[in-house]
This record gives sequence, structure tokens and C-alpha cells, in this order.
Amino acid sequence: MKILVTGGAGFIGCNFVHYMLKEHPQDTVVNLDLLTYAGNLESLADVEDAPNYRFVKGDIADMEFVDALFEKERFDVVVNFAAETHVDRSITDPGVFVRSNMMGTQALLDAARKYGVERYHQVSTDEVYGDLPLERKDLFFTEQTPLHTSSPYSASKAGSDLLVLSYYRTFGLPVTISRCSNNYGAYQFPEKMIPLMLTRAFYDQTLPVYGTGENVRDWLHVYDHCSAIDLILQKGRLGEVYNIGGHNEKTNLEVVRVILKAMDKPESLIRFVADRKGHDLRYAIDPKKIETELGWKPKYTFETGIRQTIEWYLEHREWWQHILDGEYSDYFKKMYKL
Ligand code: NAD
Ligand code: DAU
Repeated sequence: MKILVTGGAGFIGCNFVHYMLKEHPQDTVVNLDLLTYAGNLESLADVEDAPNYRFVKGDIADMEFVDALFEKERFDVVVNFAAETHVDRSITDPGVFVRSNMMGTQALLDAARKYGVERYHQVSTDEVYGDLPLERKDLFFTEQTPLHTSSPYSASKAGSDLLVLSYYRTFGLPVTISRCSNNYGAYQFPEKMIPLMLTRAFYDQTLPVYGTGENVRDWLHVYDHCSAIDLILQKGRLGEVYNIGGHNEKTNLEVVRVILKAMDKPESLIRFVADRKGHDLRYAIDPKKIETELGWKPKYTFETGIRQTIEWYLEHREWWQHILDGEYSDYFKKMYKL
């Protein structure tokens, strides 16, 4: 099988490329990525010469380019990870989110339809459901929860989900969608909360916690997200949405404290800063559908996964130091003024 993975130079995409090359060595993986600030080929250095892997630089929102690539390569399966993904950046610059996330999805859908791919899988997010109240621990996101977005990022992801479902209903395109909770693990760009806290704690720098730190996220190790997508590709029903999550709800403050403790750093590094605009209170996935229908189970608990992730960052300092030394340092200064 020939699989197009878009956004394969980003955090989850590169973990998925590694996962697929290991678990399905008979398949060929083509990685299409624009290499925005978030794309990093250093994350794939160990597989760049693999005979069943290829990298193509390009923009999923460039319709002509996408059409030509599909005509040439005749992909069997498309897994679309490519997106602008950072909520804070979507608040300062929504336009690029609409372009890459919505127009990019449309270009891929059109090409998938024209060249008859067997499966188009859209990697979506639990953020399309908006948020849940902090005091209602009995409430979870199910696949039936109405879309109710808060940020330009989540709105652009919800818009692309609706486009994907419309191509199923109107054109019969064989699609599936997954909506996963917050991921953590190796190769995550240090603008995101866990690697941001980890890399700053390493240098005894202050850790910027938005608002009160009581917002809740539902954490899943990136390996478990990859295994869930693999299972959906193999056994998922067409036209269906599958939520992915492992019941690992934590307040942001709890997560920061776990990191500080594991790194033997003082809690005095924590600095409460101005809250994110429109900050979602709580995410919590109900994964019953994927568990019962497809038999998916996560491999990692939060405790084992976060320990392994901290070790990975400590052992791969060069990978994140290159990012901290690059254009990201300007973003950080402007964003945090710390
Ligand atoms: P990321 O920001 O680390 O990587 C995104 C990748 O997409 C980068 O390599 C970037 O260069 C590429 N890209 C961006 N615009 C592109 C374009 N126009 N054309 C081609 N490539 C482009 O993102 P991530 O955290 O790995 O997220 C991957 C996907 O998973 C996204 O669709 C995101 O919405 C979804 N998701 C993420 C999480 C999470 O916790 N990170 C959770 C659920 C779902
Ligand atoms: O739920 C899935 C989503 O998870 C994905 O769709 C997004 O692409 C991904 O970025 C992530 O979104 P979040 O906004 O939840 O992740 P982030 O790492 O930016 O923030 C996690 C929590 O930590 C959130 O409540 C905001 C808070 N935070 C974040 C940063 C960057 C801080 O308190 N301080 C920070 O500096």
C-alpha cells in the first residue's frame, strides 16, 4: 500500500511515520510537508534513507501541486495531519489557519476523489467540541457532542471535519475522522505546554502558567494516538468519527508539578501569567466507541508516558536546543514578554 502522510515532519506526523515504518514495513510512506516553523526533518533523520519512505516538500493548500502529486503517485491511503496547530498563534493570526486547515483539507479531498483513494483519514481534535465545565466531572465528549468551537484554530478544524463528512455524503468518498485529546511525547515542538515547561525548567527559567492553572486537559501518549489511527485505517467504518483518549485528565498545575518533581526543580519557578483569550476550561474524551467497536486500548498510563517523555527530552537536548536557538526565540519573546 502507498500511504500519503501529510504534516509528517511535525510532532504527531513524524511519530506516525516512525510507527508505520516499524509496524507495516511492507507499505510505502510518502511524507508531504510544507516545513513551516513546526516542521523539522531532524525528527526523521533515522529513516530518511529507508527504501519505503520519501519526503516531498509542498503545501497541501496548493491545489495544482496537490493534484499533480496525486496524479503521479496514485496513493491508496491519505492520512492528513498537516495543519497549523497552536491555539495561541491562531489568536494572533487566524488567516493561515483557515488556509492550511480548511483550504488544505479541501485540496486533499478533491484530489482523493479525483484519483480514487481507498481511504481518506482526517486527523482532527477534541477541541472541535469546545469545552466542558470544571465542576461537572460526569460530562465527557462523545462523538454525538455538538461542535462548539472557541478559537480560530478549533473553528478551522471543525470546518475541515464538516468538509470531510460532506465529501462522504455527497460524493461517497471513503473517509474516516479521528478526534484525539492532548498528545505528549517525543518530538513535540516546545511552544506546547509540556515541552515548554520541560525545556524551561531545565534552565531554571520561570514557567508561564495561564490564569489559575486549573484548566484541565486529557493527556494521551503520542504512540497511543498513532496505534488508534492505524486501527481506524484497518477496521474503522466509513463516514464515522472516532474519539481517542485515555482518561488522563489533569489540571495544568498538576502537570507542571509532575514535571518539576521529576526534574528535581523547585515550584518557585511557576509564574502565573495573563490567561489565554477564550481559554477552554476542560477537555475529557469518552473513548467507548473506539474501545468497544475496534478494540483499541492505550499502552501508556500518564505516569509511565510522562516519565519516558521527560527522559527523551533530557537525552535529546540537541533536537530542542536547535529550535530554541532559531526563529522560535523571537516568537517566545513577543508572546510571553518574560
Ligand atoms: P505540528 O504543529 O507539530 O505539525 C504540523 C505539521 O504540519 C508541521 O510539520 C507543518 O510543517 C505541517 N504543515 C502545516 N501547514 C502545512 C501545509 N499548508 N502544507 C503542508 N504541511 C503543512 O502539529 P501536531 O501537534 O503534530 O498535530 C498534527 C495534527 O494532529 C493536526 O491536524 C492537529 O490538529 C491534530 N491534533 C493534535 C493534537 C496535539 O495534542 N498536538 C491532538 C489532537 C489532534
Ligand atoms: O486537545 C487537542 C489539542 O491540544 C490540539 O488540537 C492542539 O493542536 C494542541 O496544541 C493542544 O491544544 P492546547 O491548547 O490544549 O495545548 P497547549 O499545549 O497549547 O496548552 C495546554 C494547556 O496549557 C492549555 O490549558 C493552556 C496551558 N498553557 C499553555 C502554554 C503554551 C499554559 O498554561 N502556559 C503556556 O505557556
